[in-house]
Formats: sequence, C-alpha cells, structure tokens
Amino acid sequence: MFVLNRETGEPLFPIEERKVPASRIPGEEAWPTQPFPLKPKPFARQSMTEQDLTSYTQAGHDSILKKFRSMRYEGLFTPPDLKGTLMLPGSRGGAEWGGAAYDPKTSVLFVKSNDSPEIQSMKKVDQEKEAKNQTVFQQGKSLYMTYCVSCHGKDKNGDEPNYPSLIGLKNRMTREAALDKIKKGGGKMPAFASVVKGKEKGMIAFLYEREQNSGKATKMETGQTKAGADKYLNLTAYGHFRDPQGNPALRPPWGTLNAINLNTGEYEWQIPLGNSEKYQDKNGPETGQEGSAGPIVTAGGVIFISGTNDQKLRAFDKNSGKLLWQTRLPGVANATACTYMANGKQYVALSVGGNKDNPSGFLMAFGLP
Ligand code: HEC
Repeated sequence: MFVLNRETGEPLFPIEERKVPASRIPGEEAWPTQPFPLKPKPFARQSMTEQDLTSYTQAGHDSILKKFRSMRYEGLFTPPDLKGTLMLPGSRGGAEWGGAAYDPKTSVLFVKSNDSPEIQSMKKVDQEKEAKNQTVFQQGKSLYMTYCVSCHGKDKNGDEPNYPSLIGLKNRMTREAALDKIKKGGGKMPAFASVVKGKEKGMIAFLYEREQNSGKATKMETGQTKAGADKYLNLTAYGHFRDPQGNPALRPPWGTLNAINLNTGEYEWQIPLGNSEKYQDKNGPETGQEGSAGPIVTAGGVIFISGTNDQKLRAFDKNSGKLLWQTRLPGVANATACTYMANGKQYVALSVGGNKDNPSGFLMAFGLP
C-alpha cells in the first residue's frame, strides 16, 4: 500500500526503488526496477517457498512441489514466462474490486486480502500453422485452445463458480446468444470480437458439434493474417495454482481482513476472513477464504463484510477485529454492502449472487434492532 500526501502526492513513508527480474520473452523488455513501499508492511503475502506449499496428502504435496520447481519464480514482479511463472499475490490476490473502507475518526483503513498464488504461462502462437489445412471444427478448436482454455478448461468443463462449464451449451443457449457472449464478453469474460472475426463458424462448430460433422475451412474463413512478428500470448491469465483438494497451493490463511493505521503505518489487527471447516486444523485458526467484496465501516464502529465462499455476512468491532455477528446468505455476495437509514431505522443491504435455485440472485436488507 502506498500512502501519499493528497495535496502534493509525496509519499508519507519511505519507498525504495529495487531491481526486479527481467523478461525472457523475445522482444519484450520489463522495466528493470519497481517501487517498494517500506511501510505499511504488505497486507498480502508477496513471496513463498517450498515450505509454504499445502500438504493435505503426500501425493498432493508432491505434485504441487513438482509444479512449483518447474516454474520460473524469482519473487515479486517475475515476468510471465514460457516455463510458467508463479505469481503471488495473483491477479485476484491482495485487495480485490470491493476496495477498502476508511474510518476518518481513527485514520484506520480496513482492507480484505486474498492470498492465492497464480500461474502465468506464455506461449508462442504459430499463426501460419494455425490457419493451414484445418477443418472448420479444428479451426474452432485451435482458437479455443489459444484464447479460451485458460478459463473454460481443456475439456470445456470450466472452473465453477468462477468460470462456467461450456459442456451441454446447446441445451441452454442458442448459437447466436453464445456468439454474442463471445464477441461482447461479460463479467470476468473479456470480449473476443476481433479474435473470432471471420472464424465464427469454426468457433461455433467446436462448441456445438462433434468433430466428424464439419468440413474443411474455406480460404475466406481461415481469416489468415499476414506473416509478421512472433506472437506470444499469456495462456493462463487468472490461472490458479491449486492443490488437488482444490485449495490455493499456499498454506492458509487464504484470506484476511486487515486494519492499518495510516498515521503510524502499523497494523491494529489482522484476522483470517472466511473459513473452510474441512481444512481447518483442530483447534487451529480459521483458514480464511478468497473473496471479492470489500468492507464498510459505520459511524457506530461496526465493520460489515461478506464475499467469502462460506456465504457468510459478518460484523466486526472496528477496534478489536472481534466478531460481533454473522449470518449465512443464500449465495456468495460478491459486492460490497451498503448501509442507510429509513424512518429512523438502520439497514445493511447487499446484492447476493445467484445459485442453482435462484439464478437471478438476491437483493437483501438486514435491519438493526
Ligand atoms: C478470463 C476468463 C475467460 C476467458 C479467457 C473466456 N471466458 Fe467465456 N466466460 C467467462 C466467464 C466468467 C463467463 C460468465 C460470464 C457471465 O456470467 O456473464 C463466461 C461465459 C461464456 C459463455 C456463456 C456460457 C453460459 O453458460 O452462459 C460462453 C459461450 C463462453 N464464455 C465462451 C468463451 C469462448 C469461446 C472463449 C474464447 C474465445 C472464452 N469464453 C474465453 C470467462 C472467460
């Protein structure tokens, strides 16, 4: 976290410019240094070693250890690499879109953090080979393997609840609707209009048909580009580094709530937020969980936050971080709550994501007695 004087932009705590690893991708130069704030200390873990890998089973530990050792990892700011680069915090890590809450009475900032490593893998895309001698289906498949596989998976089974499975798409979506989604994107899905342009048939064939039903691509549909510079793509953007149990491959806590005093740069408190009971050590601390929602802090000194996969909405004492109240919501609330008063009564309201029983989600309000 960088704390700056809002009038002059000057940092209030020292910042050191340090050397960081160079890129090994041909033609790419990463900036040689990056600024490191010395205070406050980072609220998310910024490096890990083999000792930090989870070990719920020996075989699981061995498999992530092998993966860990195979990747390029020289700490924070290691550029994405052809070998795969470990990234901690990941792109969903540290603070998320929910942002932080600031208490003007005490100058304390409350921020949720995710501790979940990711893998960034670069791949050289051979555009020439891609376009030649392919059936419409194969053309769609190579598009998919280049641009879609990182989120929807190599078997199209996705990574629920973050990335939907694309299996059985024809039972729930027309081809037109799917194409529209692919072109425009939505939520965490980027827009791919320029990628699928001229290759719509192939894309749809791969998603909706079986291989034998599709003929050779015609010259027009290949959308061949002129031979140019080598193209490298980050194929596993947002790719989790998880253990076989499905947890972040890094030992808990996987999510924390932090109270940072901006006058002193010191922590008032830090607690795990969210709990995966199954993986909690007997009598040990809660595991913490990933989540995107941010906290709010009220004038009365209460923090409200949700967003973790245990579907809880929690209230904490702003001074101690002590849990005051919690309830289980019907889904995960990915949005930050709000609070308001109506007819003399105080409410906390939030949007809760959809689930199988109620795909459209919920808008819920809790009244303070
Ligand atoms: C960065 C991750 C990411 C990538 C890459 C990505 N998608 Fe998606 N995709 C998503 C997410 C998240 C959703 C759900 C979006 C929503 O709910 O609006 C989605 C939704 C979809 C849907 C609608 C599925 C449904 O059941 O509603 C289709 C079809 C789809 N993607 C196809 C593709 C194709 C084809 C590509 C490659 C060209 C692609 N996606 C690349 C994340 C991704």
